[in-house]
Amino acid sequence: MGAVRIAVFVSGQGRGSNLQAILDACADGRIPGEVCVVVGTRAGAPALERAAAAGVETVVISPRKYEGRELEYGEKILAALGRREANLICLAGYMRLLPPNVVDVFRNRILNIHPALLPFFGGRGMYGHHVHEAVVESGMQITGCTVHLVDENYDSGPILLQTVVPVLPDDTADTLAARVLPAEHRTYVEAIALLADADVEVRGRRAIVRQRNG
Ligand code: GRF
Repeated sequence: MGAVRIAVFVSGQGRGSNLQAILDACADGRIPGEVCVVVGTRAGAPALERAAAAGVETVVISPRKYEGRELEYGEKILAALGRREANLICLAGYMRLLPPNVVDVFRNRILNIHPALLPFFGGRGMYGHHVHEAVVESGMQITGCTVHLVDENYDSGPILLQTVVPVLPDDTADTLAARVLPAEHRTYVEAIALLADADVEVRGRRAIVRQRNG
């Protein structure tokens, strides 16, 4: 396979800071590849504007239009990705489950970034602020971020890469979120670079990455 061709997925009004980190890393060669399309769920999202500013094509596919017809939503996504020859999906603030036909076709080639150390503080409803609030309330002294493979459930696929971030005594959800975010950007870029020319074997809960050329 040549350079990695990434389709980044964002939701609603996603701000797109992880997308930006990926775009920057493609531009300066830390990721050997390019973002071939950004898929959003609603027009006008700041993330889509970032994509356009970088000269990357955007597509808006509204899941609402396909309510009760999940597989059709998936077909639409697969067609958009097929046209651009995407070979890696990166969820970056995409708040929904991907349709099962998309998960099937891109099995082990779909990544998500979660702003905590999975398998803790994940699952349905654990997103954004909720995550950091739960971490602060728990009294944990460490948190971080996790890049994992995506399967049919929320935050449940095998872990690929994690970074630990300290929780400080005076932290609020906001200060913690601000400390975790740069770690997300670094970790996501590192994970994509790792997978760019590699295959993943899943053994139980574990993901084993094998470089193709060595
Ligand atoms: C990040 O915190 C990420 O961990 C989560 O959604 C947020 C997206 O932020 N999955 P941004 O749009 O990339 O700035």
